[in-house]
Amino acid sequence: MKKKLIIAIDGYSSCGKSTFAKTIAKELNYLYIDSGAMYRTVTLYCMRHGLVDNDKLDLQSIVNELKDINIEFVYNPDIAEYETFLNSENVEKEIRGIEVSRHVSRISQISEVRTRMMELQRQIGMFKGIVMDGRDIGTVVFPDAELKIFMTASVEIRAKRRYDELKNKGVEIDFEEIRRNIVARDITDENRDISPLRRADDALVLDNTRMTVAEQMTWVMNIIEKKINGS
Ligand code: DC
Repeated sequence: MKKKLIIAIDGYSSCGKSTFAKTIAKELNYLYIDSGAMYRTVTLYCMRHGLVDNDKLDLQSIVNELKDINIEFVYNPDIAEYETFLNSENVEKEIRGIEVSRHVSRISQISEVRTRMMELQRQIGMFKGIVMDGRDIGTVVFPDAELKIFMTASVEIRAKRRYDELKNKGVEIDFEEIRRNIVARDITDENRDISPLRRADDALVLDNTRMTVAEQMTWVMNIIEKKINGS
């Protein structure tokens, strides 16, 4: 049997991590897990239950209610992708909206939230054969992952990609607002006390500002083949 890997992909928001990770998972027939979707789902739950808004964060209730938040990834054969479910409801579209993006950095700074998400992520990764993307996958969740990649790209190109993605989904949004949201999230992601975004010492850096997905795939599959074949 072929050796199965854990592939950890970390990096800044909107730099193409999920497209890259999904494509690798399809190519290898691995499971793809979007850890950002998990933080977004917790955030949506908190918004709906009045536990977070622009000037409020009800820390105690969030911690108490973590046990009531059930997150699942369910395969949708029509689009050949996994979708995120919160307590049996498909929330895939809603968690990508700007409202959730506005609050998610604060929710993902809560240590109890991070511990719970990490437990779930490690459970899912137990059998290997997984590609997971996020901010702390190679540093904290799977420090022994066989392959770690740290992705980056310019702020302009990232804002443009997020803008196009939301537009394609029919979400009306202002480009400048997206740009500001990305810059603000970079700052919080890099400077938070717990599990800040940083490159693991043994992660390979991929700056895809001027790379197509096909070029990124050629680069990574070459590396993966060597890892699987042990050369
Ligand atoms: O990848 P994304 O933009 O969908 O992630 C949403 C937020 O979740 C982002 O602001 C940082 C946070 N996050 C995190 O703290 N740790 C992860 N492993 C993944 C995401």
